[in-house]
Amino acid sequence: MPERIPIALVGCGGMGRRHLRGLVHLASSSYSNSDLVAVCDINQDNATFAADEAAELLGRRPRVYADLAGMVRELGSDLQAASITTDVGSHHKIAAACLEAGLHVLCEKPLALTVRGCWLIVDAAKRAGCIVSVGENYRRDPINRLARALIAGGAIGTPRLMIETSIGGKDAIAITPWRHMKHAGTIVVDAGIHYADILRFYLGEVRSIYGEVRLHEKVRYNTGSAGPGGYYARWSSDFPDQVEPTGEDALYAQLIFESGAIGQWISDYAGHGRPSRTRRVFGSLGSLDCPGDRDGQPIVLHLDDGTAIDDGRILEHAPGYRLEPLAAELFGGERVWTYNFEFNDTDARLLALEYHELAACVSAGNQPEVTAQEGLADLALTYAPFEAGRLGRPVTLAEVANSRVDGYQREIDVALGLVPEDLHTA
Ligand SMILES: NC(=O)c1ccc[n+]([C@@H]2O[C@H](COP(=O)([O-])OP(=O)(O)OC[C@H]3O[C@@H](n4cnc5c(N)ncnc54)[C@H](O)[C@@H]3O)[C@@H](O)[C@H]2O)c1
Repeated sequence: MPERIPIALVGCGGMGRRHLRGLVHLASSSYSNSDLVAVCDINQDNATFAADEAAELLGRRPRVYADLAGMVRELGSDLQAASITTDVGSHHKIAAACLEAGLHVLCEKPLALTVRGCWLIVDAAKRAGCIVSVGENYRRDPINRLARALIAGGAIGTPRLMIETSIGGKDAIAITPWRHMKHAGTIVVDAGIHYADILRFYLGEVRSIYGEVRLHEKVRYNTGSAGPGGYYARWSSDFPDQVEPTGEDALYAQLIFESGAIGQWISDYAGHGRPSRTRRVFGSLGSLDCPGDRDGQPIVLHLDDGTAIDDGRILEHAPGYRLEPLAAELFGGERVWTYNFEFNDTDARLLALEYHELAACVSAGNQPEVTAQEGLADLALTYAPFEAGRLGRPVTLAEVANSRVDGYQREIDVALGLVPEDLHTA
């Protein structure tokens, strides 16, 4: 039996509820290695509701807390890790507090609301000697693992261009009102960061970026949507009828990877008319059409002789593709090229992988795949088009990642107390 890591869930909103389902998949797998011992939310109702759901789903009721410090004090060494699923603007404070208390951390993406917020967490983790893993679930989708293996295995030759586009959303509130507020978690940052991670996961590090961001929809309306997976129905009727966004809702960018390949990236959450999504990679010998995340649809490999491979034969072009044992168990084999689960079921399986990895890293003293530094690089790439558009010139990933270029984020950093007020206009 592997060691079981006692973990607390901090943040019991929509994603917190989804994490509970991830823990259920892990608990009922052959690789179960963590125990949910506590849930914490400043909204006591949300914490109690999550504890009730956990009792029903996991068969054991975690303890309920409305105060992180109180939880840490009371549980002491009975707690080894915390999973942070609060709104983005609170991540840096909660993560730093957990790390200072000696807890290992699984933090939902984005690691923090600004690059400086990420650095605060990186430094706190170093001081504490604790692990930070960032919940980048898209890259754990077996289909994205396969795409990366196809590219790495030379299936399309030398990669030249990746196009990553998602457009839609109109003027509806995207999941929650806070996702439209610059100081809380702007939708382009909150959701767009998934694509920053996928771009880097597929084609490696990015060197430079030019881009523009926009705030198209000055008013957003409550459509009563239950949000991804239906988990937000509990709250959406209490959202205001409309909000006036302060955070951007569209990002348009061109990237140059360290390899010299080009990336075109659009994350537009204000798209009207026909929604559109594209993920294509073009190389010197062929191209890949990749499906949406978490839908299990097959990748299509197009070769110059007109062949289009969209079935199991694609595996011949990805000799290095092997899922880790838990992923193989949850998705039906170590060389899966398609799968067919409901969205919520897929989502929970991917989250199970995150929890398993964290607990395994804690037991073995290893670093996770998406470290705090990796999460920081994802956030820097997401902010790069904001900063580049503001400066009217391309920026390097490095200058955004080390906050030499931070003009857009400065106001948020001041509001979050991450830089002094007098640096606001410096
Ligand atoms: N990986 C994904 O696919 C995915 C999808 C949705 C959300 N997320 C991420 O999950 C996180 C949460 O998003 P959400 O949609 O669940 O938000 P939400 O607003 O539904 O829930 C946030 C919860 O955190 C609680 N909270 C806020 N401050 C707190 C604090 N200091 N201590 C304890 N609890 C606190 C709130 O009361 C609320 O219950 C965000 O980082 C978001 O980006 C990830």
